[in-house]
Amino acid sequence: MNKRPVLLGMLALLFGAAMGSPALPQAGSADAANGAPVPYALTMGDMMNTLIQPRHAKLGLAGEAKNWQLAQYALVEIRQAFAGIVKAQPKFMGLPVQQLVDAALTQPMNAVDAAIKEQDGKKFAVAYAQLTAGCNACHSAVEHPFVVIKVPDASAFPNQDFNPH
Ligand code: HEC
Repeated sequence: MNKRPVLLGMLALLFGAAMGSPALPQAGSADAANGAPVPYALTMGDMMNTLIQPRHAKLGLAGEAKNWQLAQYALVEIRQAFAGIVKAQPKFMGLPVQQLVDAALTQPMNAVDAAIKEQDGKKFAVAYAQLTAGCNACHSAVEHPFVVIKVPDASAFPNQDFNPH
């Protein structure tokens, strides 16, 4: 393959930059065709991977350690994350995400909340397992049954202490 046209194009870009050429994308003019930067839009998978999965794990680890203050905090964080996700992605495969989340998670999240307030480790474990089943129920509903969430058997966060202090 002849790489010369590409090289020439890059040189022209560099030259243009040196000359302050208006052909270069201006900051803020998000024109993809121009090669200007376009803000990265998180996909549902991105949000699940970055916002939900770690919070789900942290909630479980805090509850397991009977660190009720941290568990309460993790629950608030995961609820807030879902509240943001349903706004950012109102529909997935044509299905209303808010309704899916409500159906899958509202009841188990309330049960987790109650267990935390009662500082009841056994109740927490039951409610947290229901919450985890809720994650998987939604994944099945949206044709992602192969994304299987489970109760964490180890911490993925070597720099965070989940024990109460
Ligand atoms: C709206 C229903 C819904 C609920 C409830 C839900 N998910 Fe998801 N999840 C999805 C969808 C849809 C995808 C696939 C998104 C995609 O491929 O873009 C997904 C994908 C994922 C992935 C794979 C992302 C990756 O890149 O590896 C993880 C992990 C995940 N979800 C975690 C969770 C956890 C943990 C919970 C429960 C606390 C949960 N999800 C609850 C809809 C849901």
